[in-house]
Order: sequence, then C-alpha cells, then structure tokens
Amino acid sequence: MIKLAIMGAMEEEIEPLLAHFENINVVEFADNKYYEVKYNGLEIVIAYSKIGKVFASLTAATMIEKFGCDTLLFSGVAGGINPELKIGDLIIADKLCQHDLDITAFGHPNGYVPGGKVFVETTKSLREIAIKVANENNLKVIVGTIATGDQFVHSTERKDFIQSTFKADALEMEGASVAVVCDALNVPFFILRAISDTADMDAGFDFDEFLKSSAKNSADYLIKIVKEL
Ligand code: ADE
Repeated sequence: MIKLAIMGAMEEEIEPLLAHFENINVVEFADNKYYEVKYNGLEIVIAYSKIGKVFASLTAATMIEKFGCDTLLFSGVAGGINPELKIGDLIIADKLCQHDLDITAFGHPNGYVPGGKVFVETTKSLREIAIKVANENNLKVIVGTIATGDQFVHSTERKDFIQSTFKADALEMEGASVAVVCDALNVPFFILRAISDTADMDAGFDFDEFLKSSAKNSADYLIKIVKEL
C-alpha cells in the first residue's frame, strides 16, 4: 500500500486539501502538525511546512523518515515566468533548481554546489498520471522548470535573471529543496503549483488577492491525481 505524503508550504495551501477528508488524526512533531488520514486505499500524511527551503526540507524529510511515506506530492502556488502562465494556471515541474544557490565566486554555475546538481528531475511516472488526469478533465497544464529560492520575487530584474539563467517557467520558495530531499532518499515525488502572481512589481498585491483561489486550483487537481494512484 502506498503511504503518501502531501505537502504545502502555507496553511492556505493545505486547507482545501484537508477539506476533502474526514476522520483526520493530528500528530504534532518538531514544531509542526501532521494530518493523517486513510483515503481510497491509501494512507496519507498531510502537512504544511512553513515558507522557505529549510522548513520544506525538514517537513519532507520528516514525512519520509518519521512517518514512513514512500511517495510525495506537493501542492501550492507559484509566481509565473512563462508568459503562457496566467494567474490560476497549473504547472507541473519536470525539473527544479535553486535560483539563489550561488558559489559562482569559485567558478561554479549558478544553482550548483559540489556533490549536487543544478536541476533535479521529478518522477516521470507521477507526471504521466498527472497529465492523463489533466487530459481526462480538460485541464490546461504546463510541464516545465520551476526555480526555487528563499525570496519572494517581485521585480522584473530578478525574474529576468531566473528566466535567463535557468530557463525557468515559474518560481516559488520550496519545490527544489523538497526535490533534493526526495531524490537523495529515493522517494518518487511530484511538484504541482498554480500561479498566484507573475513575480513582478504587482506580485505582492496579486499574491494576497489570488493565494486562496490558486491554492484551491492546485489542491482540486491534486485530489484528482490522488484518486488515480
Ligand atoms: N510563490 C508565489 N509567488 C511567488 C513569488 N513571486 N516569489 C516567490 N515565491 C512565490
């Protein structure tokens, strides 16, 4: 039986997921809450990590190592870079990178440290299930690169740097750290986001305005995917 981890970064990102389930058992660990539920023959653990790469790594590693999850799905919102991505639209990462990881002073490329890799790929079989579900439900989903950093990006200058350096389609603050953890621990994983803003000067305003509706778009799609696992 699959033991599934479902992560978000913010409470608003997991609220619409929790709303789908009944008989939830709450476990407190390491200053966080983990919501356990049985659904469709799956054991599921749901949590929001808090924002940023460190909290996201802690939560992903906890779900795998303490709760024994063997598959991880992430649902949440992102800033759009690819002009095809409008607010509310869905993106599945085929690979992720850390746009703020920088030891270029030593001649290394942006996003790279020795022993690591610039891009971590997500699990193909999970992407394929997600694409099948999107097709069956007439949902438009872009598959592309997501760049992660410990910054809320709200300038065209930073956005352009991330686009030109990593050819990223969207950016957020957790995905690549979750990817590193899952890759290292050999756990199949998948990162889904819906666009809340376009990472430009209006990003803060748009994020506040569209966080809930975009988080729900992502969560509703994720639940459809969970039914196919
Ligand atoms: N998540 C959603 N929008 C974002 C942005 N503009 N920067 C970083 N993370 C985000």
